[in-house]
Amino acid sequence: MKRTVIYYDEIDSTNEKAKELAKQDAVHGTLLVANKQTAGKGRRGRVWESPAGENIYMSLILKPELEVDKASMLTLVMAYSVALAVEAETNLPVQIKWPNDLVVCGKKICGILTEMSVSQGSIDYVIVGVGINVNSKVFPAELQDKATSLYLESGKQIKREELISQVMEQFEQAYEIFLHKQDLSFLQEAYNYRLVSKDKEVRVLEPGNEYQAIACGINPEGELIVVKENGEQEAIYAGEVSVRGIYGYV
Ligand code: BTN
Repeated sequence: MKRTVIYYDEIDSTNEKAKELAKQDAVHGTLLVANKQTAGKGRRGRVWESPAGENIYMSLILKPELEVDKASMLTLVMAYSVALAVEAETNLPVQIKWPNDLVVCGKKICGILTEMSVSQGSIDYVIVGVGINVNSKVFPAELQDKATSLYLESGKQIKREELISQVMEQFEQAYEIFLHKQDLSFLQEAYNYRLVSKDKEVRVLEPGNEYQAIACGINPEGELIVVKENGEQEAIYAGEVSVRGIYGYV
């Protein structure tokens, strides 16, 4: 993967800018990094708080040779890569809230927003946007019981550029294996080991269908396998469905 990094002191959203550049001629592997976002986007239309100088806001442009229905696995590849990088940099144990939130001590430290453009059945580009709460010392009141930062949990200031470079190293390795295997079998065990809801009760919120089940772990396609109360097994595809713990955020 070619390493081109474009740095912005302030931008609306690195995902939005990445889309713009991907439509032009930005090459596969281009990474956009911002010091501050004025319109950071979270999943499901939420705002991603992006104050200056503290955290990591970055978006990676990918132009992969991949079937469209495999693209959502890239989110899990990134989640796994950030987990390994954060563990290496901080020694904190990192958990994963399927498919793409990272959790330390029961609170969110990273979110991933993957967006894709498809034409005539094939992928034009995929943008993998990553927000990591690195050095934030305070969170807005409504987030305090759900979000934390690596600084708050480790007591150490972390150099953002070092963590970005660790994440990219981990991602490049994992991405190569993923493209070769075309599934997530290589990271399934490591992912499930960190899965916050493993063997726990979760609430599955499908449009028009809500139920309680036990989460068993991901399969090689990155779907979450759950067992319903009637014993039926279900594989949940990332994107359409929200899975919550039954006691609060995790
Ligand atoms: C979520 O958990 O809701 C996903 C959050 C993704 C935030 C990142 S920050 C960098 C990139 N640019 C954005 O506007 N969003 C993503």
